[in-house]
Amino acid sequence: MMRLTTLPPSFRRTMGAALLALAGLGLVAVAAPAQETEEEGPLHAAMEEMQSGLRSLRKLIGSAETTAQAVDLVRAMQGHALTAFGHPPAPPESNAGDAAKLWSVEFRQGIHGLLGELLSLEHLLVEGKLEEAKASYATLTKIKKEAHDRFQVD
Ligand code: HEM
Repeated sequence: MMRLTTLPPSFRRTMGAALLALAGLGLVAVAAPAQETEEEGPLHAAMEEMQSGLRSLRKLIGSAETTAQAVDLVRAMQGHALTAFGHPPAPPESNAGDAAKLWSVEFRQGIHGLLGELLSLEHLLVEGKLEEAKASYATLTKIKKEAHDRFQVD
């Protein structure tokens, strides 16, 4: 079998760059979630986008004329949730071993719940169930609050 070290350095560099690019896109992150530590990293950026989406959504839900725009926004937020899923925050330093692993899996469960609610909201909007869509919006704000309490976000 061909060993990696026998491959030409230029080929190895190209492969390394391709893998980094895939990781950046979040395409390889599910198998081995990255530990997010930087304030400016992909998790923070995804959360800021989520915040701006949530703010705009409030005005778009409730009127038939703006429902299509609301659907587009909700779908964009689903994409940001998927980005967040691949970038769990680093656990507090006091967490070690299983506690650190639980921190990561619970974070991804929280994002999974958020994604589920965003899908329900899209479904309700497409069906024209605008009152129920408003209730789903309220659930999103609750999910945010509970998750931020759990993950110690200021
Ligand atoms: C609609 C839902 C959500 C919105 C609008 C939202 C919004 C935000 C915003 C604006 C920040 C930055 C806070 C700051 O800079 O002080 C943030 C950070 C964070 N959020 Fe969320 N969030 C949502 C849901 C969630 C969920 C479900 C989780 C976890 C399961 C989560 C975990 C985090 C974490 C760990 C951070 C810190 C990361 C960082 O800023 O570097 N969030 N979120």
